[in-house]
Amino acid sequence: MRKPIIAGNWKMNMTVNESIEFIEKIKDYGNDNVEGVVCVPFTSLLTVKEKLSGSKIKLGAQNIHWEESGAFTGEISGKMLKEIGVDYVIIGHSERRKYFGETDETVNLRLKKALEYKITPIICVGESLEERESGIEKEVVKKQVTKGLKDISADRLEEIVVAYEPIWAIGTGKTATSDQAQEIIGYIREVLKDIFEANANTVRIQYGGSVKGSNIKELMNKEDIDGALVGGASLIEDEFKQLLSF
Ligand code: PGA
Repeated sequence: MRKPIIAGNWKMNMTVNESIEFIEKIKDYGNDNVEGVVCVPFTSLLTVKEKLSGSKIKLGAQNIHWEESGAFTGEISGKMLKEIGVDYVIIGHSERRKYFGETDETVNLRLKKALEYKITPIICVGESLEERESGIEKEVVKKQVTKGLKDISADRLEEIVVAYEPIWAIGTGKTATSDQAQEIIGYIREVLKDIFEANANTVRIQYGGSVKGSNIKELMNKEDIDGALVGGASLIEDEFKQLLSF
């Protein structure tokens, strides 16, 4: 059985004090049926880790660099994240790809580093509106998955979480229908089976894009959808609580 994972992606939101206030409100809502995660800004990681002590909610970061250390201004290393006790890291979010030059190649390097440090990578893939309208969404996602997971051995597959996030659904309020999400997520599972010549039934694949308390159940009813990567709604106390106990 794949345990669903609801991961809040706070993006560039919440000061340290705001993070403390928010975590105090949600930390008791973690439960054993769903893996709850908050992916917070770097500045909040240490404090949030302390505040989550005793909570079932796990801690995630929003980036990891592939080198151990050195002259990489603005980046963060696996060693730094591990020392804090980070459990998850988002890699290749479409905002990183669009605004910060992230490519499938850098996604792959970051992914390998996360696995080396035993920090679970959440690798994001998804097509733009233009790509969907041209009917090439499967092609786009296949390329991102294939290149992003290049040279990863099949026995590491179950340590990876994939998030399918169609760009047109992110922050737009326009969620993909559960059928659209299931179609691509089911396809991603097939692609993983092909690449790794292994059983991909254990890999967790989330949906992301305007997920909230009111649409999580319908998405989760689909056989291949194993949770959600949530932006906006993860910053709202009542929404995030609903998501954790969908
Ligand atoms: P959203 O963001 O839930 O605000 O659409 C999702 C994401 O970017 O991960």
